Amino acid sequence: MMKEIIVKTRSFRRFKQDRPLDGAILRHCIECARLGGSARNCQPWQYGIVTDPHRCADIFPYLGWAGYLSDWPGPVEGERPSAYILCVLNRLWLKGNDQEAQFDLGIATQNMLLAAMENNIGGCRIGAFSAKLAGLFTLAEHQELSLVIALGYPVETVVIETISNNDIRYWRDEKQTHHVPKRSLDDIIISL
Ligand SMILES: Cc1cc2nc3c(=O)[nH]c(=O)nc-3n(C[C@H](O)[C@H](O)[C@H](O)COP(=O)(O)O)c2cc1C
Repeated sequence: MMKEIIVKTRSFRRFKQDRPLDGAILRHCIECARLGGSARNCQPWQYGIVTDPHRCADIFPYLGWAGYLSDWPGPVEGERPSAYILCVLNRLWLKGNDQEAQFDLGIATQNMLLAAMENNIGGCRIGAFSAKLAGLFTLAEHQELSLVIALGYPVETVVIETISNNDIRYWRDEKQTHHVPKRSLDDIIISL
């Protein structure tokens, strides 16, 4: 069960744009993020939910998609995310260092994406966004936009492959299936 949902929880970048996401489900995803571990238990992350199609359209141009797919500029109109969750670091709540906060965000966003996939919603973390994106939102001085989660009902198939020749680049085949190479278990378990 657990592995099944983990395998299904891939990064999705093409969505059924006109199918809206239920705000209650997105709140549930953030509830699951909230329950994750946190260094020093300081829980420094806050989240903004965007579902309004006009606001989603405003956000989209600031995002960078699938860097390894150099001939793909990102999802076309009609396949763009129908919601975003914006991850904001609240520096007033941060007790440790930034690295600890980033660890926390990894845990939180994985919980979030697992909860989304349980509801057949796919997502993609977007770290490659323009600094200008923060200008669209009302953020206090101590609040820093750090990661964007793009969300929607996927219209693409994503499959896992085993890495060969240490080539970590994902690729798309002629049917536009997205292939994600993962290192093998034997390569990542080491004897110490
Ligand atoms: C912290 C982080 C930042 C990411 N930023 C981007 C991004 O800016 N654009 C993008 O298309 N994918 C982004 N991704 C998605 C990765 O490319 C993806 O996780 C990787 O290709 C493995 O695919 P998988 O998530 O399906 O296992 C990001 C993932 C993580 C964890």
